[in-house]
Amino acid sequence: MLGVAKRTIDAIYNEAKKEVNNVILTRYDIECILKILNKEDEIEGIYINFCNPWPRGKHHKRRLTHTKQLEQYKEFLKDNGKIYFKTDDDNLFEESLNYFKEANFQIEKLTRDLEAEPDFWENIETEHEKMFKEKGIKIKACIVKKQIE
Ligand SMILES: C[S@@+](CC[C@H](N)C(=O)[O-])C[C@H]1O[C@@H](n2cnc3c(N)ncnc32)[C@H](O)[C@@H]1O
Repeated sequence: MLGVAKRTIDAIYNEAKKEVNNVILTRYDIECILKILNKEDEIEGIYINFCNPWPRGKHHKRRLTHTKQLEQYKEFLKDNGKIYFKTDDDNLFEESLNYFKEANFQIEKLTRDLEAEPDFWENIETEHEKMFKEKGIKIKACIVKKQIE
């Protein structure tokens, strides 16, 4: 997947006659994210697109939106930085709303039918999004903000 992403990025920048100078692609286990990102990175936004729902209770901690991961994101996300999350999975979505509250993120915007709200955000359709939409599954999405603690 990273190879496909790299070729796509190269092609777009080449066409615009620009050097690729603001993109880093990496593959990293979320559990270890604090080994590569910290406060100095001043991250403004995190996009979580169709992460694995990990439906079994004992695996919930592996969810990219789990409170345990949100506490890590707070380390490198700026105050008022945002998380943009979308998923096809109802349970993951509803439980993630609780995780966001638990980790003191403020829910700014939320929809349970992204397609019905074209102005919700500037949406970039992902591969999984296209697949789920074709099956008639509604896409759930939200924007949450890190609050100053
Ligand atoms: C269904 S795919 C996402 C597909 C893509 N984002 C899209 O929307 O088309 C789920 C992704 O979550 C990532 N993921 C799940 N658990 C992870 C973890 N613990 N650390 C890092 N990535 C993880 C997987 O590597 C996988 O790429």
